[in-house]
Amino acid sequence: ETVSYTAEATGKSGYDHYMLKEIHEQPTALRQCFSGRSDALAGTVTLEEIDEIPQPNAVQFVACGTSYHAALYGAAILREMGIPAEAYLASEYALSPPPLTLGTLVVGITQSGETADTLAALRDAKSRGVNTLALTNTVNSTAARECDHAVYIRAGPEIGVAATKTFSSQLVGCNLLAEELVDGPRDLRPLIESLRNLPDDVQSILDSSAAEELVEEYGGSDAYFFIGRGTNVAVALEGALKCKEISYEHAEGFPAGELKHGPLALVTPDTPVFAVVTGDDERARKTLGNIKEVQARGAPVIAVTDGKSNAAEIADETLMIPETEERAAPVLANVQLQLFSYHLADALGRPIDKPRNLAKSVTVE
Ligand code: AGP
Repeated sequence: ETVSYTAEATGKSGYDHYMLKEIHEQPTALRQCFSGRSDALAGTVTLEEIDEIPQPNAVQFVACGTSYHAALYGAAILREMGIPAEAYLASEYALSPPPLTLGTLVVGITQSGETADTLAALRDAKSRGVNTLALTNTVNSTAARECDHAVYIRAGPEIGVAATKTFSSQLVGCNLLAEELVDGPRDLRPLIESLRNLPDDVQSILDSSAAEELVEEYGGSDAYFFIGRGTNVAVALEGALKCKEISYEHAEGFPAGELKHGPLALVTPDTPVFAVVTGDDERARKTLGNIKEVQARGAPVIAVTDGKSNAAEIADETLMIPETEERAAPVLANVQLQLFSYHLADALGRPIDKPRNLAKSVTVE
């Protein structure tokens, strides 16, 4: 008797799709990214590949798609540390180059290291005489070779067109990069502790997520909206990109404060709004106000929250994440949104690993 498996089925290790397999590989990917790069007792982070780089005067990130969302997160945490930092869409950067001062570091975030728009932006920066750095998953990729420096996120191969584990690892990579680049002293023990716990925290979401049940309730809606503030803007935009990319449903992400400047006109009882609310600061409190605004227009709200604010009490549904530090929470919130998009696309019978019109690596400008 023989049992036959296709090479593809074997590669998926029993999962229906590479995307689901890669979502479940996130604990391992995150462990690999972080391993050997911190000293928990001393409270320090070290990226050996770049420990010679002096603190930059400013940082410009260039990236596309999901990697651009990681760049938004990276720029936000650097600004919080006092470094002027901006994220640029690579396809815009080379055509409308922002001014560069001496001492600016240009960081390309690219999973593949082969995205043409990102390479063009990095080449433009290099031709203008500044240092460039590739934050990439692919050893010896064009970006890694052409930049002055390369930092690897060590997520392992990602086959699904939709980026999942590499986005999570990019967010951790941004933390390592920021802590290495910006001079101390700082006590990084709480951050290190939260990054070390991330694999277990992600695993607990994978084991208990209610995202699939939400598809039964809200699949078939007119559109899906995603809101957040601060670093959770990156999560909102990424949640929407993932949703449209694999489910083909209309999805939009907004910084929550922008709702009232236009998108609110789209909100109806048939447009569920995912509100990413972590922590209990001014940003969280203002997002709670936005939740009430959309509820007043009849929209069901799904709070993706750590329970530190009362988001869960006011929302219609909740996707809980474990409590952690502010920097680590976006990684966890994003995992819940990945699962929602995956199950929505699966329920709709979409070709999840190879969505129409898309390629894993976009090597043309
Ligand atoms: C993500 O799900 C997409 N497939 C896409 O946006 C991707 O992130 C983008 O093309 C950038 O790719 P890169 O990270 O390899 O440069």
